Amino acid sequence: MDKILVTGGLGFIGSHTVVELQNEGYEVVIIDDLSNSSIKVLDGITAITGKTPLFEKLDLKDKAGVETFFAKHNDVKGVIHFAASKAVGESVNEPLLYYENNINTLVYVLKELKKLPEANFIFSSSCTVYGQADELPITENAPVKKAESPYGNTKQIGEEIIVDTCKVSENLKAIALRYFNPIGAHESVNIGELPIGVPQNLVPFITQTAIGLREQLSVFGDDYPTSDGTCVRDYIHVVDLAKAHVIALKRLLENKNKANYETFNLGTGKGSSVLEVVQSFERVSGEKLNYKIVGRREGDVVSAYADTNKAKDELGWKTELTLDDAMLSAWKWEQKVRG
Ligand code: UD1
Repeated sequence: MDKILVTGGLGFIGSHTVVELQNEGYEVVIIDDLSNSSIKVLDGITAITGKTPLFEKLDLKDKAGVETFFAKHNDVKGVIHFAASKAVGESVNEPLLYYENNINTLVYVLKELKKLPEANFIFSSSCTVYGQADELPITENAPVKKAESPYGNTKQIGEEIIVDTCKVSENLKAIALRYFNPIGAHESVNIGELPIGVPQNLVPFITQTAIGLREQLSVFGDDYPTSDGTCVRDYIHVVDLAKAHVIALKRLLENKNKANYETFNLGTGKGSSVLEVVQSFERVSGEKLNYKIVGRREGDVVSAYADTNKAKDELGWKTELTLDDAMLSAWKWEQKVRG
């Protein structure tokens, strides 16, 4: 079976994708620098799949290290590239760190892929490239808006780098997957999200509040033009998201792609407000969540949810799990990690 490199394969989405790849029989080699992940995640992957992926601790900013890796693993048929920094607020304060971590590393990997006879590349992009879209649901044709943060900009620039590289590389095919809001954990609770420090994202903040690690959830604004005044997002279960990566990769491996660079939205197509997420949590956990409404958070868009038709028609993929499924798995994971 084909050997697939997963960069950032011990991270949240990466680890769930490694599980799905191994379930489909692929041989996986992970590169991770452990900067925002734990080596223990390998045990979680092994517990679920019965197989331990190959693992190389490597910081992709180490250009020589990347070259050595590809010289050793010259039989890699596909790369799923997750490795990147992802904290929006931190990126505002440390823009160069983000450009170096997210852009240099991408360039080094693509340079190596150009040398291979055939390379298939999946890029971890984000719905953040759309900003506040003028029309909802958001299709892949919605214009890319000026990024709100250096983090968002690295996703936009990353996509452009891949487009430009594909134009001049006959051997390279690529798909950028634009995620909406990934949440949840594997149902076995062997792997899940492991935020370091105070979580910036809604769902880990909810579960950490419920377990007693945080005092109260601040709901950022209830005066938005939405049904209950809180922001609307498209929350997608990480296991559904992981499966989409395997399907996208297969599309490339089997030459079913329609162009050598394609983009797909990965979302459920359903928008949920912050309060609906809180209600879902309370419903599945039986816990009452301590929260209060505070002012808006700078940079938040009002509403974003995916038009899922392209993914459905072209990839034959759609989500199977619900918001409640995701919230229950996130809660079980939190209880396991902190319990
Ligand atoms: C955020 C990033 C986005 C990035 C994504 C990655 C910002 C502005 N956007 O998306 O660029 O791609 O994470 O996961 O940071 N909320 C609260 N209280 C909280 C936390 C969040 O009310 O303590 C609300 C937010 O206002 C938002 C929703 O929950 O309406 C989701 O927030 P979050 O999980 O941070 O995701 P995004 O902002 O959509």
